[in-house]
Amino acid sequence: MNNKKRIVVIGATSAIAEHCARLWLRDGSVDLTLVGRDLQRIDRVATDLRVRSPQSEIRTVQAGFLDPAEVAAAVDGIVQAGPVDIVLIAHGSLPDQAQCQDALAACAEALEVNGLSPVLYAEAFAKHMAQANHGAIALIGSVAGDRGRKSNYVYGAAKGLVTRYAQGLQHRFAGSGVKIVLVKPGPTDTPMTAHLKSQGAKLAPVEGVARQIVDGIAAGKPVIYAPGKWWLIMMIIRHLPAFVFNKMNI
Ligand SMILES: NC(=O)c1ccc[n+]([C@@H]2O[C@H](COP(=O)([O-])OP(=O)(O)OC[C@H]3O[C@@H](n4cnc5c(N)ncnc54)[C@H](OP(=O)(O)O)[C@@H]3O)[C@@H](O)[C@H]2O)c1
Repeated sequence: MNNKKRIVVIGATSAIAEHCARLWLRDGSVDLTLVGRDLQRIDRVATDLRVRSPQSEIRTVQAGFLDPAEVAAAVDGIVQAGPVDIVLIAHGSLPDQAQCQDALAACAEALEVNGLSPVLYAEAFAKHMAQANHGAIALIGSVAGDRGRKSNYVYGAAKGLVTRYAQGLQHRFAGSGVKIVLVKPGPTDTPMTAHLKSQGAKLAPVEGVARQIVDGIAAGKPVIYAPGKWWLIMMIIRHLPAFVFNKMNI
């Protein structure tokens, strides 16, 4: 064990997560564990991060994302190497809404990857952090979880599950040494939204979104809208009466 800050990233090949990792390394040497489903892809990220911060400890872990026993085993193994200060749970995929309506398998996969899996990881870390009375769990939800919309309500439902779950965790750990942070990015320029970019969608630069996440976790913010303007946009969207909302093509 070393005395560096210990950070774990689940879904470490995510562009948002990778940029958060770069910022953490820039702020000082850390003990960073990168978790993903494909070891080759995680290794590629690890190699780049090691060049950026040779003095940091960078570990890689290949893990399952849906099976509760595999998630528990992965988290137990990570925690065995020492207590965790920050875990960022970042993985997710943006499904095609029409495909989710046509094929229940696509619908189930979208709900599992974006809803069930992050909850399993958070719950597994919460167990250890509760014992240590220390640590921060940051979950990446989405503005899409704030109100169901016809254009992406299956993804939105999964992210809404993460939102409600994070609220419950915040209630459970209120006043304790464990902090729960819910991140709600708006549309961000990453591989997940490459198809939207080619259709002309306006996307936030990933570097700025990552900066807000890293700073928000350090400040122990309960909710981070990134970019911040999405707080106002979604407050309006959430409060629109159905007779107005149902006429909107969003
Ligand atoms: N980009 C946006 O506009 C936006 C907006 C709101 C919220 N978000 C959320 O932000 C988070 C990060 O997204 P990103 O934009 O950084 O996307 P990204 O670069 O495309 O990364 C997606 C990540 O999810 C992992 N993943 C995808 N499907 C998976 C599966 N079935 N099992 C396990 N891992 C899986 C990928 O792993 P592999 O490398 O192995 O494929 C990768 O690590 C996600 O939770 C996303 O929903 C993004």
